[in-house]
Amino acid sequence: MDFNNCDHQMQYSVLNDLTKAMDGEHEAICFYEMLANMAPKASMKKKILEIREDEIRHFHMFEHIYFCLTGCQYHPQTQPTYPKSFLHGIDKAFHDEQETVDFYHSVARKVHEPWISCAFSEAASDEQNHAVWFLYFMQVCKN
Ligand SMILES: [Fe+2]
Ligand SMILES: [Fe+2]
Repeated sequence: MDFNNCDHQMQYSVLNDLTKAMDGEHEAICFYEMLANMAPKASMKKKILEIREDEIRHFHMFEHIYFCLTGCQYHPQTQPTYPKSFLHGIDKAFHDEQETVDFYHSVARKVHEPWISCAFSEAASDEQNHAVWFLYFMQVCKN
């Protein structure tokens, strides 16, 4: 068995997931900036901007891991999407956050390096918290 080849394949898979994670974080950072400006209440705008700060932190964390593994800096390949309305935007955000929780947990389970697994698990907890906030905003806006 060629263990070097296995290592290479393992690392390749982590890099793909890291770039996918950074693209997602970058898209969320742009989307939440626009969403915050559409918020009907100052308290909602403040919370969305706090969530956006978490996404910026996640982006830098993944960027750091990618740099440690490759020695290269990654530039996200995403086009900004605009929320059609505040309600539509928070609905999209809720679903994106929930999907990201599943994605990050799956990476955390797959990755062999404990420090990288920890980083994805911690980000997954934040995304779960974000999803709860967007669910709350949906309830408030529908009533
Ligand atoms: Fe995030
Ligand atoms: Fe999030």
